[in-house]
Amino acid sequence: MSELSAGAPISPVSPRQATDVLAVARLATGFMPDDEGLALAGVAGLVCSLPAGGGGDSIVEVGAYCGKSTMYLAHGVLAALAGGGCRSVPVVFSVDHHHGSEENQAGWEHHDVSLVNPDTGRLDTLPAWRRTVESAGVEDRVVALVGDSPTIAARWQTPAGLVFIDGGHGHEPAWADYGGWAPKVVVGGWLAIHDVFPNPADGGRPPYELYVRALESGGFLEEIGLGCGSLRVLRRVAPGS
Ligand SMILES: C[S@@+](CC[C@H](N)C(=O)[O-])C[C@H]1O[C@@H](n2cnc3c(N)ncnc32)[C@H](O)[C@@H]1O
Repeated sequence: MSELSAGAPISPVSPRQATDVLAVARLATGFMPDDEGLALAGVAGLVCSLPAGGGGDSIVEVGAYCGKSTMYLAHGVLAALAGGGCRSVPVVFSVDHHHGSEENQAGWEHHDVSLVNPDTGRLDTLPAWRRTVESAGVEDRVVALVGDSPTIAARWQTPAGLVFIDGGHGHEPAWADYGGWAPKVVVGGWLAIHDVFPNPADGGRPPYELYVRALESGGFLEEIGLGCGSLRVLRRVAPGS
């Protein structure tokens, strides 16, 4: 069996498809600036260089919202596949309970009333996420994992070539995401963390604290050239948490 045949089925990808997905990413509602999204896409593309069964099958996104970063990840995979020379075909597993983080709730800075389900009165970003994925035509490349991130992580066994953490930004949810998902990154794979602000005046502390912890763990080294803005990218160099 070839390395590729052990992963997801490979279908031909044209550069045009990758470009179309990027256009959807740029239009989608969300919290991913384009330059950071393109950097994230670049890392997603690198996962295709990992072997199937050795992280190359799987990218995990924690914090999907309406699918903006999901589409940058899918764009990166498709662009790499269109370029050829890949060892694997990663699927993007996109984790979110779709009821929003604290800052998305009514009365908070990032509340969008158009995303409230009128029947329940609760925020529900899943319909928007689905529309984003469907309009990009990548339902075969992206899988929604709808539920609580730590609950899923505790039962998730698949090694990941890339874990992208952009879930709840409070102390408790951010650390739960780190503890649950960072150990899934294979040696040679990548951990990307969004909204890392070394200066507290620029943003909340938890994502920065996760980034520092990852570096201090000895398990990760930063790949400065792969990051952009508040998106920090680290490569796993040793097993562990
Ligand atoms: C900052 S937003 C993600 C933004 C997105 N990456 C983008 O590009 O627009 C954080 C997301 O994390 C989700 N979230 C927060 N805590 C969660 C938890 N415990 N389990 C699953 N999802 C969670 C929220 O529902 C929200 O959609």
